[in-house]
Amino acid sequence: MTSQHPVSSAQRVHIALGERSYEIVIGSGVLDAEASYGGLPRAAHAMIVTNPVVASLYGEVLAQALKGHYPLVHTVVLPDGEAHKTWESLNLIFDALLSNGCDRNTVLFALGGGVVGDMTGFAAASYMRGVPFVQVPTTLLAQVDSSVGGKTAINHPLGKNMIGAFYQPHRVLCDLDVINSLPGRELSAGLAEVIKYGPIADAAFLDWMEANLDALIARDPAALAFAVRRSCEIKAQVVSQDERESGVRAILNFGHTFGHAIEAGMGYGAWLHGEAVGCGMVMAARLSVALGLVDQTFVERLRRLVERAGLPVVAPVLDAQDNVGRYMALMRVDKKAEAGAIRFVVIDSVGHALVRSAPDEMVADVINVSCQV
Ligand code: NAD
Ligand code: GLY
Repeated sequence: MTSQHPVSSAQRVHIALGERSYEIVIGSGVLDAEASYGGLPRAAHAMIVTNPVVASLYGEVLAQALKGHYPLVHTVVLPDGEAHKTWESLNLIFDALLSNGCDRNTVLFALGGGVVGDMTGFAAASYMRGVPFVQVPTTLLAQVDSSVGGKTAINHPLGKNMIGAFYQPHRVLCDLDVINSLPGRELSAGLAEVIKYGPIADAAFLDWMEANLDALIARDPAALAFAVRRSCEIKAQVVSQDERESGVRAILNFGHTFGHAIEAGMGYGAWLHGEAVGCGMVMAARLSVALGLVDQTFVERLRRLVERAGLPVVAPVLDAQDNVGRYMALMRVDKKAEAGAIRFVVIDSVGHALVRSAPDEMVADVINVSCQV
């Protein structure tokens, strides 16, 4: 049952990475369109990696589509949620691959949100020293961010995404129809990563977000199509310049240094990644003001937008005795930290970001103000 929606109506964004280049296909009906799968690596086995929620919604559609292209189609269902982005879940993928006799002639398909996508990518990077994989993101967050760019990882109890690899997918298939089944809280979490792209790279896109946020919350197809495409274009441009984050790619982590501390400090899964990033962006905007890079109106503007998107803007207290100390300790585990010095993505004009360290007292003030506002 394929091709009700010709994929020619879909839009394509190219990620230019030499021999690792690939396309992001964005549109309605992408999941069951025949053209979505043409030109992918040929293989004896396809392994769909997913979770129970997504499997029940879209597992069969993907399996049917893949049966036209791969002789053997298998599925492994991982436990749902950030708390399961672990070695144990990763091993379930390897167990399924080995017990189904999957050799190097296998393509993995990550069907789900960022948790499934990050784990599947890491499994693909390491299974038999590397097999191809395709991202089929089913959350807004995964469509605009995590499925693109090749960062793959699992969490460690001492730090988020600490174990992983850079490993690019062969294609990203963004079917906009799947956003309709997404719970409202997850839609909001995805909006955080969409909002991010304006301050760091495109002032006009921030204006567009302010004007179109209600349409996005109402899941208007045209608004969603534009938001996903523009986000992917910006991410593609940044990743094409700096695949392994030796420079400019770090700007994609705006809000993430504070955000990762919130996620780890609250216990993975208590705050959604996008919720922590939303609040973290407001904190990073305050730090940008404290560093004299932008004025206070930027904080107010961003805080209003984040709040309108249904995201928290007041930071949680992570430790009643030593809140600042706890934030600092968690942020020192951030991958951007250098010799223990925490580095933050800050904004020096709307549409432009840079990475800077800041005095501990200044960061402490930001944490204190953000936990009270
Ligand atoms: P998620 O993968 O946990 O998915 C959110 C929830 O939505 C899950 O319960 C899932 O089962 C459900 N779901 C997924 N698709 C659905 C659909 N269409 N309808 C109904 N329910 C659906 O969370 P996420 O927000 O997609 O991803 C967060 C993860 O992504 C974090 O682990 C984060 O670290 C990672 N991430 C990675 C990158 C990267 O560059 N690799 C970038 C950003 C975030
Ligand atoms: N989400 C940050 C990055 O891909 O670099």
